[in-house]
Amino acid sequence: MAKSILTLKGISRDFYDAKVRQRVLKNIDLEFYAGELAIVAGPSGSGKTTLLSIMGLILKPSEGRIYIKGEDVSDLAEDREATLRRRNFGFVFQTPTEIPALTILENILVANAVQGTRVPPALRDKAQSLLASFGLSEYAHVKPKVLSTGEKQRVAIARALINDPVLLLCDEPTSALDAENSALVLDTLKGVSRDDDRGVVLVTHDPRVYPYGDRVITLEHGAVVHDWRREVAA
Ligand SMILES: Nc1ncnc2c1ncn2[C@@H]1O[C@H](COP(=O)(O)OP(=O)(O)OP(=O)(O)O)[C@@H](O)[C@H]1O
Ligand SMILES: [Mg+2]
Repeated sequence: MAKSILTLKGISRDFYDAKVRQRVLKNIDLEFYAGELAIVAGPSGSGKTTLLSIMGLILKPSEGRIYIKGEDVSDLAEDREATLRRRNFGFVFQTPTEIPALTILENILVANAVQGTRVPPALRDKAQSLLASFGLSEYAHVKPKVLSTGEKQRVAIARALINDPVLLLCDEPTSALDAENSALVLDTLKGVSRDDDRGVVLVTHDPRVYPYGDRVITLEHGAVVHDWRREVAA
């Protein structure tokens, strides 16, 4: 049985446009599991990024509840929420953002590099092995400028994985990439999802990405209109 990581119950979100209420997410019930690459699809403006932000505890829902591994995390104080966010989620966005002055290895470790303390050797080793698993070892000690956008995006994935998130949340991670790099990044994300303790959620409006999903959830006007899961061969 796949482990449940994140549960959304009755999630709605309103934004106000010149005092007119706009309901951009409508009563979403979803559950996300370890070992699965779930795609959230839907046209522009359907609410994908809003949903991903709510899942990652970046944005509060207007209604509904969120559970991480069964624990209700809907009403936590900000500091506790921030701790949970750091501990449970990794984020990858459309455009990779690296610090140009740091090496690739330093970029992966940057969130753990508290001023005045050394990054523990075990964490450096982990960063190295993440780079190795993505075929990027040779770049550990170079600056980001020599990498292609696709390689940078895989570095961004490594950085998002360094603290072992249970859920990797990716917003249009391939939309800035050509077909070849897009396929490399998608294969990487698929590999990342093949873990009994981790799931991957990938937001996209590109149908070419769908075949990579174990599951494709489609949003339209803020509501789930399809939730399809690939049949697993017995
Ligand atoms: N901070 C905000 N304030 C007001 N309206 C917002 C805000 N964020 C999003 N919206 C509105 O909510 C709706 C859903 O936006 P969202 O960004 O979640 O869509 P999306 O599916 O990610 O679209 P895209 O594919 O273009 O990224 C849109 O109508 C958008 O204008
Ligand atoms: Mg979006």
